Amino acid sequence: MTHPAPRPTGHSHPAAPTAHGNHGHPAPGQGAALPDGLAEMLDLDAGLFAPHIAGLTGRIARLARGPVTRVVDLGAGTGAGTLALLERFPGARVTAVDTDPDMLARITATADARGLGARVRTLEADAGAGLPGVEDADLVWASASLHHVADPAAALAVVRAALRPGGLLAVAELDGLPRFLPDDAVPARPGVEERCRALLDAVHAEQVPHLGADWSALLAAAGFAVEEQRTDRLALSAPLPEGAGRYAHLVLGRIRAVVEDRADPADLAALDTLLDGGPQDVRHRGDLVVRSTRATWIARRPAA
Ligand SMILES: C[S@@+](CC[C@H](N)C(=O)[O-])C[C@H]1O[C@@H](n2cnc3c(N)ncnc32)[C@H](O)[C@@H]1O
Repeated sequence: MTHPAPRPTGHSHPAAPTAHGNHGHPAPGQGAALPDGLAEMLDLDAGLFAPHIAGLTGRIARLARGPVTRVVDLGAGTGAGTLALLERFPGARVTAVDTDPDMLARITATADARGLGARVRTLEADAGAGLPGVEDADLVWASASLHHVADPAAALAVVRAALRPGGLLAVAELDGLPRFLPDDAVPARPGVEERCRALLDAVHAEQVPHLGADWSALLAAAGFAVEEQRTDRLALSAPLPEGAGRYAHLVLGRIRAVVEDRADPADLAALDTLLDGGPQDVRHRGDLVVRSTRATWIARRPAA
């Protein structure tokens, strides 16, 4: 798993958005609008990587001891995990937790539309501060969310307390946003995507310092027994699933917004040619490959 670039010193952009969440935007719970395109990006990600998610829920089912009926989706976003878990565990009810009420409203609407509303409850809460009313969970799922919490150790203590003895925690993390293009995608500016991603990594190191953290060590320190850890390097190439071009456009657009005040103007201009609807636009290129590294852990709260 790639770690973010070292935290730069003496150069801070506290208000810059990250391409990864709500950082730099008004605080959740204060009527904040979702960052542009974030919800759609999460939904497209869930669709593109559905087989990977299904693989993980399948491995959880094999490791579970006893029925899985009480499930928590921590930092649920638009509900990719919630929906996958409802499907995998037909007897389960899922509590979707997020700090962002707009995300939770989306989950409720989606679950209702699919006739699953009775199996989903939402809880607006900060994973690092406690989960009121949540106890004896069989499974806590935390996908691309734990790195957002201010104090991962505190959040893992909250999760441990919410699980029943023998219950499972599944953590899924990524090394950053996916990559899409070959080095020569813009012949006039070879390597433009990699250079912009390096700048993005520097922003993440400042604003999301737990991205790329050593979750094996953190889980062990919090009293979990790690039963499975794996890192999958995923690459989707032609014929690409529906939505791949749109997904690449959204991700590269977010990267552009994040690095705008740091990047070489010539790189920004090159990035624009991938986004502007012209002949090089990422939405209709033949050389697009969606590459993403996903690390997952399945850990158990020991029975005694
Ligand atoms: C990158 S999204 C991932 C969403 C979803 N789990 C997925 O895999 O598609 C991260 C989510 O975590 C939420 N989040 C961030 N910090 C949180 C915290 N301290 N407690 C609960 N949720 C949090 C954000 O609001 C956002 O919806």
